[in-house]
Amino acid sequence: MLNIVIFGAPGSGKGTQSERIVERFGLNHISTGDVLRAEIKNGTELGKLAKSYIDEGQLIPDDLMINILADVLDSFKDSKGVIFDGFPRTINQAEELKKMLAARGQEITLMLDLNVPEEELVERLINRGKSSGRADDNEETIRKRLDVYYSQTCPLIDWYKVEGKYCLIEGQGEMNKITEMICEQINILK
Ligand code: AP5
Ligand code: MG
Repeated sequence: MLNIVIFGAPGSGKGTQSERIVERFGLNHISTGDVLRAEIKNGTELGKLAKSYIDEGQLIPDDLMINILADVLDSFKDSKGVIFDGFPRTINQAEELKKMLAARGQEITLMLDLNVPEEELVERLINRGKSSGRADDNEETIRKRLDVYYSQTCPLIDWYKVEGKYCLIEGQGEMNKITEMICEQINILK
């Protein structure tokens, strides 16, 4: 089983690279952001609640997020492994993910940290906002998302270092080159 956390700031390329890894290694993909946006689109109660946080660039409460993740995980049958994109985002989420996987006789194989300078992140997201339709892709909300990332999510870097799972990836530059660096790391572990 390959269970990979793809980690990084908003706009670091988690979604872009996840799609490629999924194709290459035949894994399942969970993007918690995509799950929440689908709920918003379908007008569910969860979607309405999620929207109030996402539009402000804030994180959805841990308990809610952890339950959502457990449901998606249980929906995968005969999985070769999972790419976790946008989860965990807090230490609490990482601890719960570890327990959830342990209960299934599994563990995280690797945490890939896509490192991109802040100004490039802002530029990428403002550009994407011109066509994405994402309510959080405007400069004001992008800055809030980055603040939340630095204060609540960055501590996971040290947490995964202690776990011995951390791998730094240079996330700036040509997309194909980044994909190859990621695949190299995964192949070492396979
Ligand atoms: P989420 O949807 O996860 O958004 P995010 O983390 O802010 O990241 P993005 O999806 O914006 O960026 P990405 O890293 O996927 O980059 P992408 O590949 O798209 O979460 C949204 C919200 O949901 C959160 O703010 C929170 O409210 C809530 N949420 C989600 N998960 C949660 C959780 N676990 N707990 C609590 N709340 C949660 O690339 C970005 C752009 O850059 C694209 O246009 C792409 O084409 C371009 N690009 C990619 N790579 C390159 C490259 N190498 N060079 C140039 N351009 C590139
Ligand atoms: Mg994404």
